[in-house]
Amino acid sequence: PAPSGAVFYLFGATGDLAKRKLFPALFSLYKEGKLAEDFAVVGLARRPRTNDQFRSDLYDSINEFCRYKATDAELWNRFAQHFVYMSLDINNVDGFRELNVLSEELDRKFEIKGNRLFYLALAPELFGPVSFNLREGGLLQSPGWHRLVIEKPFGYDLPSAQLLNEQLSQVFKEEEIYRIDHYLGKEMVQNIEVIRFANAFFEPLWNRDHIANVQITLSETVGVEDRGGYYDKSGALRDMGQNHMLQMLTMIAMEPPSREHPEDIRDEKVKVLRSLRQFASSDDVRKRVVRGQYAEGSLRGKELKGYRQEDSVNPESTTETYFAAKVFVDNFRWAGVPFYIRTGKRLPVKTTEVVIEFKNAPDNVLFSRKHSLQPNLLVIRVNPMEGIYIKINAKKPGTDSQIQPVAMEFCQSCQVGINTPEAYETLLHDAVQGDSTYFTRWDEVSHAWTFVDKIAAAWRESTSDLMQYAAGSWGPQQADRLLAEDGYHWWPVN
Ligand code: BG6
Repeated sequence: PAPSGAVFYLFGATGDLAKRKLFPALFSLYKEGKLAEDFAVVGLARRPRTNDQFRSDLYDSINEFCRYKATDAELWNRFAQHFVYMSLDINNVDGFRELNVLSEELDRKFEIKGNRLFYLALAPELFGPVSFNLREGGLLQSPGWHRLVIEKPFGYDLPSAQLLNEQLSQVFKEEEIYRIDHYLGKEMVQNIEVIRFANAFFEPLWNRDHIANVQITLSETVGVEDRGGYYDKSGALRDMGQNHMLQMLTMIAMEPPSREHPEDIRDEKVKVLRSLRQFASSDDVRKRVVRGQYAEGSLRGKELKGYRQEDSVNPESTTETYFAAKVFVDNFRWAGVPFYIRTGKRLPVKTTEVVIEFKNAPDNVLFSRKHSLQPNLLVIRVNPMEGIYIKINAKKPGTDSQIQPVAMEFCQSCQVGINTPEAYETLLHDAVQGDSTYFTRWDEVSHAWTFVDKIAAAWRESTSDLMQYAAGSWGPQQADRLLAEDGYHWWPVN
């Protein structure tokens, strides 16, 4: 295999993502031997910082956020010497030329074969300018591979995403661009394919004949914290819907790929996105989508501000912090099966869960007259608890004929606990290996925008459907109606 050691360029090295996710991910990979000695990390940001200061930030971040701590001094020193910092004005190409000189030194020092991974933890409007300067500064001329890793949001809507993509594609080929959707790096999201395709219990039932509906919940207890400036322009639909939620939906709905090849898997996901039933009109949006914004409330005895009172949020903001939608995948497998999706900030629990509700066994003389049977459920718990449980019907012990639902549970977090790799670890490792399976390809991104843009357009026409909900509650009650009109209800999360 091609040598995988590389120079990592961390744009935005003094930011939150580097501190909370990227530094810890690099340390875990190093500690587990997934990163050998042939690598270097260049921290890049505008503010001046010495290498020592940078390494001390790194140390603090690892001890605060990493699942391994930097307790072994020898290991820590060996790791830290791979890190250097350079202050860079990203609009000035001369700085990039200097960076190129530094890179060649690092290549020699750590015996790296010219591989370069550019990680842009930056605002998307900077992706284009940075890419151009990487090229002008000579950074793409080294002998090895060159990869660009970028964070969401990838645009604000389809036109802005297209523009961004055009800029990037002047410098990088599609297969060199790794668009992060960190939900795809989560263990249990990756596990969905295994659960579906490796189990005789589920694979034959995974279709419209046996599945009544699918429910996907991404609920958060946090508010907008200090991200008001970004969030107020984005809202829940763009922040979670366009990416994480639709990606999870494609993992649930996709056909088995013909080969275990990144492009084949992504082709199947694109087919699902293409089959999403588009909204026919603004009325259709109002019928199938509910949006809300949190007002004052309380959670576990703590008083909470309303969204409009948060820092950097417009006091008259009409940005949604919650949405729920009824989505259909109009293909052969899923005809008529509703997918209910919901996400929101300031809800009562932090959880990501997928519930597959199966159709009931047919009425039969034995049971149905005396009981109303509960449907079988398969619940995939993604985060923060990881696991799977199924709900089945069984006889209530000690009774003649009473039936009760019982749960069979596999709790992955209880067994593997804190040793599960973090999403960013998995994704960084994949990017270094050149495996793009769990990154989003341009056509996925563009189909997702097409779908989401229709909702956003209807919302722009009028805000009369924006509901307020108390912080700490489960969001607007209208979201229950989406299911009730089909004879279902949201299953309580666990
Ligand atoms: C991010 C969103 O992509 O995902 C945040 O921008 C959100 O608003 C976060 O809080 C949730 O991620 P996780 O991994 O904590 O569920």
